[in-house]
Amino acid sequence: QDDDCQARILAARQKLGKRLVILGHHYQHESVYRHADYSGDSLKLSKYCDSLDAEYIVFLGVHFMAEVADILSRPDQIVVLPDLAAGCSMADMANLAKVERSYRELSKVLNFDETITPVTYINSAADLKAFCGEHGGIVCTSTNASKILEWGFSQREKILFFPDQHLGRWSGYKMGIPLEQMPVWDPDLPMGGLTEQQIKDAKILLWKGHCSVHQMFRKQNIDQFRAQHPDGKVISHPETAFEVCINSDYVGSTEYILRTVSEAEPGTKWLVGTELNLVTRLAEEMKPQNKLVQFMSHVVCECSTMARIDPQHLAWCLENLAEGNVVNQIKVPEHEAKLAKLTLDRMLAVS
Ligand code: 13P
Ligand code: SF4
Repeated sequence: QDDDCQARILAARQKLGKRLVILGHHYQHESVYRHADYSGDSLKLSKYCDSLDAEYIVFLGVHFMAEVADILSRPDQIVVLPDLAAGCSMADMANLAKVERSYRELSKVLNFDETITPVTYINSAADLKAFCGEHGGIVCTSTNASKILEWGFSQREKILFFPDQHLGRWSGYKMGIPLEQMPVWDPDLPMGGLTEQQIKDAKILLWKGHCSVHQMFRKQNIDQFRAQHPDGKVISHPETAFEVCINSDYVGSTEYILRTVSEAEPGTKWLVGTELNLVTRLAEEMKPQNKLVQFMSHVVCECSTMARIDPQHLAWCLENLAEGNVVNQIKVPEHEAKLAKLTLDRMLAVS
């Protein structure tokens, strides 16, 4: 059945020719990733979006990525996500109602718009990017978070960072901010569960959100690897917990992880703390150079929503496009898209 889908994908692609471009995130399974014209991390893929010429942009990734593609592409281009259920559980941990409530709560203690720069990780819905656009804020990715935080502090004295507490904490820590000045803001508790003094003393308020995939990695996994391979290196994504980041030799985005391991000396050994599909592919690619690439967990840490984009859905959506039927289009409402574009353009300019 998979062979049949692969043949259908190739046939539909041929019919569509240059009218179609396929973008793929590194976490996609090999069975669809092989069809990507361009692949990358969130920053690299965003940069492609404003320079593509095709009529259809099919996104192999999750919902927020396709939204960014729609916001940054031309109005006449059509962005398609092969399965609309491909969301991001971390992005779902912050929604507009909760962010607006937090804005109102914080405004009781300080003047939010004069004191706090809201910074949203790109893993968030378009309406939250629009919220940041409206309140002098910005978007960041795992590649540019520290630079973006610096920009945030150049505007105002504090930052509200959502939805990933781990990326916010690690990036703040690298800038020299003490951990106690980065308390967790729990949007489900009155005043985020913090005292007025904690809010006044905070440099970064970290939204209580995380990635369910990256939270599976543990320091014990690193200790075991180092005991077995004392000369090995550990590399992790900044969505992993603080104790994993601080015990890693390198921390960075998916693109950074791929580049660092690919450019390392032949024969080196690596423990990699990020999603399984990326690590499996990298391990295969590094075999000819005799590099050992080991996944950080004994538990299967696949991003289940990324995995929703499979050959069946890809074949179905491409065949429809080839017949002139647009299915699963991602279209951000115009007023949101305008404000969200402001923050994305700001991010691209800063980074
Ligand atoms: P990157 O931008 O590093 O590819 O990360 C995106 C993501 O969702 C990681 O879980
Ligand atoms: Fe979202 Fe985590 Fe999946 Fe990345 S790995 S898309 S943060 S759920």
